[in-house]
Amino acid sequence: MSLTPRQIVEELDKYIIGQSEAKKAVAVALRNRYRRSKLPKEVRDEITPKNIIMKGPTGVGKTEIARRLSKLVKAPFVKVEATKYTEVGYVGRDVESMIRDLVAVSVRMVKDEKMKEVADKASVNVAAKICEILYKNQEVKEGDEPKSREQIKLDYFNGKYDDQIIEIEVSEQPKQMGLMEGVGEINIGGFIGGLFPNRKQRKKFTVLKAKETLMAEEEEKLIDNDAVNAEAIRRAEEDGIIFIDEMDKIIGKTAGGNGPDVSREGVQRDILPIVEGSTVNTKFGNVKTDFILFICAGAFHVSKIEDMIPELQGRFPIVVELNSLTKDDFKRILKEPKNSIIFQYSNLLKVDNIELNFTDDALEEMASIAAIENETSENIGARRLHTIMERLLEDISFNASGDYPLQTLNIDSTYVKNVFKDNIKSHDLKKYII
Ligand SMILES: Nc1ncnc2c1ncn2[C@@H]1O[C@H](COP(=O)(O)OP(=O)(O)OP(=O)(O)O)[C@@H](O)[C@H]1O
Ligand SMILES: [Mg+2]
Repeated sequence: MSLTPRQIVEELDKYIIGQSEAKKAVAVALRNRYRRSKLPKEVRDEITPKNIIMKGPTGVGKTEIARRLSKLVKAPFVKVEATKYTEVGYVGRDVESMIRDLVAVSVRMVKDEKMKEVADKASVNVAAKICEILYKNQEVKEGDEPKSREQIKLDYFNGKYDDQIIEIEVSEQPKQMGLMEGVGEINIGGFIGGLFPNRKQRKKFTVLKAKETLMAEEEEKLIDNDAVNAEAIRRAEEDGIIFIDEMDKIIGKTAGGNGPDVSREGVQRDILPIVEGSTVNTKFGNVKTDFILFICAGAFHVSKIEDMIPELQGRFPIVVELNSLTKDDFKRILKEPKNSIIFQYSNLLKVDNIELNFTDDALEEMASIAAIENETSENIGARRLHTIMERLLEDISFNASGDYPLQTLNIDSTYVKNVFKDNIKSHDLKKYII
C-alpha cells in the first residue's frame, strides 16, 4: 500500500525539477518507515530513523519538497519553522509543541477514518430521528390519511423535506480554550462538561442542516475516543514525520549576543532530547519521540551545519545538498511542474478572456534573464521567475477586463526582450564595469 521510493520520486518529479539527491533521500527514509513497520517488535525497537538535513541555497525547492511530501504521505506529518520556537523559560512556543502538533494531526487523521467507518450507521440513526419528528409534525387535513412512516422515510431520502424547518435537540459544543500559547492546551469545556454532562438545547434548523448537525453528533457518539487517541499516539510515535524548516536560522554565533539570538542555541538544546528520543506530554497522552522521523532544511549559507551543537549534528546522519538552479532548470520550471508558473498565469488570465501562448524561445529568453538577474543581483533561485513573470505580464494583467471576446496572445522572445530591454542593457554594462 505504501509507495515505493521510485513512486515517491516520480510523484515529487511532477512538481519539483531536478534535486534528485534530496528526493531520493526522503523517498528512502519514508520507505524505511514502512519496512520497519513490517518487522517483529523486538527488531523494530532497535531501528531508529535516519534523520535528514536538506541543505541548499534559497529558492531551489527545499520547502516545496516538504509541501509535496506532506500531501503524499499517509502518515502524520507536520511542517514547522524552527524560528518560531523559543527556549524553555522564555515567552513563546517551546519546541515540545511540535510534538503536540503532530499528535493533533494524527488524531484528526484517525478520527476522520473512524468517522467514515461509522458514517453509514450514523446516517441510519439520524434518518430515524428526523423522520420521527417529521412524522409527528405532519399536519393532516380533515379526511386525509396521515403519511405512513415508510412514506416519510422515502420522501426524506429523496430530499423532499430538505428545506422544511424542524426543531431538534443539540448538545452545546464544549468550549476549547488554550490557556497560554505553548504551555499546553487544557480543554476547559471537556473538563466542565464532565462535571455537568451534556447540556442540551432545542434549536430550529432546516432538515438539511439538521441532518448535518445530527450526523456529527451521532458519529461522535459511535466513535470510541479513547481508542482513537491511543491509535493516534501509536501512529505519531511510529510513523510520524516532522519537517523543520529554516533550521539554519537557529544556528550560529552571528549577531552580538543580544535580542532573540540569545536563545538560539537554547532552542537547539531543547530540540536535542526530542530528536534523541524522549517522552512528551500531550493532552491526548504521552508520546515517545524515539522513532519520529525528522527532516531539517535550511540554506546553511551564513551559518554552517558544523555550527550546530555537535550532539544535534550527530542525530542527522544524512545530509543532502540541493543544487543551485541553472538556466535549463528555469526553463523547465516555467512550464513542466503540474502547477507551473505558466499554468498559473494562463489560468488566471483565461478568466478575463485572454489565452496566453508562450513560444519556446520566449521561455528560453525568460530563463536566461532569470539566470542573469540571479547572478548579477541577489540569487533568489526559482522565486526570480515569479518576479519576471509578474513584470512580463504587467500590462496584460492590468488591461485585461473580460469585456472582449476570447483573444489569444502570442508571447515570443521579441515580446520578452522588449519588456526587459532596459534590464538587459544595464546588465551588459555591469559586466564591463566589473
Ligand atoms: N526545483 C524546483 N522545481 C520547481 N519549482 C521550484 C524549484 N525550486 C523552487 N521552486 C519554486 O520556487 C519557489 C520557492 O521555492 P522553495 O519555497 O522551495 O524555496 P526554498 O528552497 O525553501 O528556499 P528558502 O531557503 O528561501 O526557504 C516555490 O514557488 C517553488 O515552487
Ligand atoms: Mg524554504
